[in-house]
Amino acid sequence: MEFVVKSGNPEKQRTACLVLGVYESRRLAPATEQFDAVYNSALSNLLRRGDLDGKIGQSLLLFNLADTLCERVLLIGCGKERDLDDRRFRQIASHAATALNETGATEAVVYLTDLAVRGRETDWKIRQIVEAVETARYRCDALKSKKDTPRRLLRKIILSVPRRRELPEGEQAVREGIAIAAGVKLTKDLGNLPPNLCTPTYLAEQAQALAGEFPTLRVEVLEEADMERLGMGALLAVSRGSAQPGKLIRLDYRHGLATRKPYVLVGKGVTFDTGGISLKPGEGMDEMKYDMCGAASVLGTLRACAELQLPLNVIGLIPAVENMPGGRASRPGDIVTSLSGQTIEILNTDAEGRLILCDTLTYAERDEPAAVVDIATLTGACIIALGRHPHGLFSNHPPLAHALQTAGNAACDRVWELPLWEDYQEQLDSNFADMANIGGKEGGAITAACFLSRFAKKFHWAHLDIAGTAWKTGKAKGATGRPVPLLTQYLLDRVAETEREDGRAAH
Ligand code: BES
Ligand code: MN
Ligand code: ZN
Repeated sequence: MEFVVKSGNPEKQRTACLVLGVYESRRLAPATEQFDAVYNSALSNLLRRGDLDGKIGQSLLLFNLADTLCERVLLIGCGKERDLDDRRFRQIASHAATALNETGATEAVVYLTDLAVRGRETDWKIRQIVEAVETARYRCDALKSKKDTPRRLLRKIILSVPRRRELPEGEQAVREGIAIAAGVKLTKDLGNLPPNLCTPTYLAEQAQALAGEFPTLRVEVLEEADMERLGMGALLAVSRGSAQPGKLIRLDYRHGLATRKPYVLVGKGVTFDTGGISLKPGEGMDEMKYDMCGAASVLGTLRACAELQLPLNVIGLIPAVENMPGGRASRPGDIVTSLSGQTIEILNTDAEGRLILCDTLTYAERDEPAAVVDIATLTGACIIALGRHPHGLFSNHPPLAHALQTAGNAACDRVWELPLWEDYQEQLDSNFADMANIGGKEGGAITAACFLSRFAKKFHWAHLDIAGTAWKTGKAKGATGRPVPLLTQYLLDRVAETEREDGRAAH
């Protein structure tokens, strides 16, 4: 899809489709009003017949309005003007994108950028529209013999900005929207792929393909023998149960000054989680193919960084394994030695995510990171605590937690912080080792984070539990691509922060 930014009057657009907003009840948005005035109230006269009163979700497609330059006008319901917030704007953008896709128009000029969203500028709205259009176009039909939608004609979208001087910011917003959408798409595709195809080896190949596409990316894959040599006893304990060899994938994005410390993203890559010897119940077990969505979001975010050529250093670390029961699988009661030297009693083999992450966190120490963020579909308990809207956030460094909250709000990919108090740590006590890998029924998302915190003492660290947010269950089952928008925004904010600091230093 091609996106172009333009400033100009709606009545002067010679286009296949003009997209205009209508508030409840039948109040016209500014551009709609202007168009209506030039064409003798053509729109308000039509609306008076009652076909659209402006509720969110409504749309009305009009053809060949007399004397106009456009072939179609697509009116989009925008709800009450006073109520228009981030969430409603996204709903409006996604309804508009779906409605546009169903027209026969090959291009369209979109004026929804003139809607007044509290606290949001034009560039924010442009980015949301770009992301919504790409989301609406997403299909996962690579493995269906008959494709879902054979005919999609829309090829070009022109986004209006109210003033010419907003063009450069609008164009940057388009670039960001496209890069984030491409990262989200990669993350969804990998998440949705079945576990017989999306193996640890496949994830490593995907990282290699990404490095082939972008010269700023370099990849290195550690094999099980390498991990053995390093002493990653926890990671290997999980990997051993599977016939698929485990991999530790390292992607290096270097595009900042060599003296700048890297941001490290660690993504849980369990390509299928049976639970191991502590086998999961059968119902819905297919969804455990999504247990590598943290890994996929790291690949998606690095893709976005590389496409935007952000002046930063970012490292992606992905422990990729399959959690299977088998003759070589670990047993409840096994004690393993982690890379950090701390010993772990594996009381439940289904708490495998923390075992592969802890060794990867220790491994991250050698890169002297500016900050480490791990992303993991870690606990069912997080879904119980927060539902499926925010990612669970934990951090040992309040400014980092705050930066992630800010980024999540801006990107509409929000987090909610849970406590990482010392009080919970004793739930991990073991009679036989330095710690157990489970902390009992209570506060399961928190004790999992407490476990990880023991391996993140040497750097600023945050943990995102994305168990409730990485995919949708039920009829619309599928990966969401989250938290690629959040992570990309976090990194965009770091670029802006560095520029501010450098500016100050120069004075
Ligand atoms: N991958 C699961 C967490 C999960 C469960 C994500 C359901 C999404 C939906 C993780 O490896 C796991 O099995 N966690 C256990 C931990 C428990 C054994 C302490 C859980 O949440 O039940
Ligand atoms: Mn598990
Ligand atoms: Zn898991």
